[in-house]
Amino acid sequence: MINFTSMRLTIFSILLVVACFGIAGFSTFYSPRENDNPATLGEKLFNEKILSLDSSLSCASCHKPAFAFADTMAFSIGIGGKLTKRNTPSVLNMKNRPYYFWDGRSASLKEQALMPISHPDEMGLPIQDAIIRLNNSPLYSALFKKIYNQTVTAQNIGAAFAAYENTLETIDSKFDDWGNNIKKISASEERGRQVFISEKAKCFDCHFREDFTNDDFKNIGLFNAKDLNDSGRFLITKQKKDLGKFKTPGLRNIAVTAPYMHNGMFATLEEVVDYYNNPKKIVPDAINIDPSLQQPLGLTEKEKKDLIAFLKTLTDKKFAKREASMRNQLTSIIHK
Ligand code: HEC
Ligand code: HEC
Repeated sequence: MINFTSMRLTIFSILLVVACFGIAGFSTFYSPRENDNPATLGEKLFNEKILSLDSSLSCASCHKPAFAFADTMAFSIGIGGKLTKRNTPSVLNMKNRPYYFWDGRSASLKEQALMPISHPDEMGLPIQDAIIRLNNSPLYSALFKKIYNQTVTAQNIGAAFAAYENTLETIDSKFDDWGNNIKKISASEERGRQVFISEKAKCFDCHFREDFTNDDFKNIGLFNAKDLNDSGRFLITKQKKDLGKFKTPGLRNIAVTAPYMHNGMFATLEEVVDYYNNPKKIVPDAINIDPSLQQPLGLTEKEKKDLIAFLKTLTDKKFAKREASMRNQLTSIIHK
C-alpha cells in the first residue's frame, strides 16, 4: 500500500517537472524585449537545436564557444553520429572574409549559414522544414515579426546568423596590446614575431593583415591523391592549378583551436611548426605544393619555440584561460 502511494507520488512529481519544462520550453508567453535585434536573434539561432533534423545539434555543438568557436576533434559529429569530412574551423573573425569554407564555396555569411542546416552530415534539416519549425514556434515567430516585420524566411534566417557572426571579432589579445603600445611582449614572443615575418620562415607570405590571412587559396602540401585525397579548391573550380589548395585560415586564437588543418591532422602547434619546417618529411609525395614550401625552412629548435610563443600571443583574453588549461592537459598527457 505504502509502495503504491509513493509510486503515485513519484509519477505525479515526474509529470509536474515535465509540465514545467514543457511550458518553459515552448515559451508560449514570450514577448519580445526592447533590445532584441538581428544579432541577438542570430545568437539564439546559433544555439538552437530544433534547426537539426532530430533536434540534437546546434551550430554551437561543433563551433564550440569555449574553444574559440572551433571543435576539439579532427572531425565533428553530425546528426546520427555521422562525421564531417573536414575539420570544423573557428567562426570568429569572419566579418571581413571574401570566402567561407576550406574550399571557399560560399561567398557570404548569409548564404553560408543555411548550408550546415541542410547538410546531411551536419544538421540534416531541409531549409523548408527549418522555416516551418521556426514559424510554428511562438517564440521565434514573435522575434522575426518584431525584428524583420516578416514571417520566417530563408533570407531573414541567413541575415540573423550573419548579424551575429559579424559581432564575433576578436581584437583583445596580448598581440593587440603590443600593437597598440599598451604592453610589451616577452623577449621570446618578440623573437618569434621576427621569425614569423622573416624570409626564412615565410609565414607572413600567406598569414598577414589583421586576422593573419591573405584570404587566398594555397597548397601547403597536404594533398597526395592517396591517403590525403581532399583536393580542396579544385572541387569548386575544376582547375588543375587549384589541386590541394585550401583557404588560408586566419591565425587569431590559434592556440585554442586544435587540431589543425582542413583534415585536423596535427594535434599541436609544435606538430604544425615541425611540418612547415620540412613538409616532405611528413608528406613526401605532395602534389602541387606551393613553391615557397618546397625546400626545408631550417628553423632551429629555439626559433620553433619562439614562433609558437608568438602564435600564442594571438589568443583573445576571453580564451586565454582555456589555453592555460589546454596546456596543462597537454603537459599531463606528455608526462604520463
Ligand atoms: C556537425 C558539425 C557542424 C555544425 C552543426 C555546424 N558546422 Fe559550421 N562548419 C563545420 C565544418 C566541418 C566546416 C568546414 C566545412 C568545409 O570547409 O567544407 C564548417 C564551416 C563553417 C563556416 C566557415 C568558416 C570558414 O573559416 O570559412 C561557418 C561560417 C560556419 N561553419 C557556420 C556555421 C553555422 C552558422 C552553423 C549553424 C547553422 C554551423 N556552422 C553548424 C561543422 C559544423
Ligand atoms: C604558402 C602559404 C602559407 C605559408 C607560407 C604558411 N601558411 Fe600556414 N596555412 C596556409 C594554408 C593554406 C593553411 C590551411 C592548409 C590546409 O588545411 O591544408 C594553413 C594552415 C595553418 C595553420 C592551421 C590553422 C588551422 O586553423 O587549422 C597554422 C597554425 C599555420 N598555418 C601557421 C603557419 C606558420 C607558423 C607558418 C610559417 C612557418 C605558415 N603557416 C606558413 C598557408 C600558408
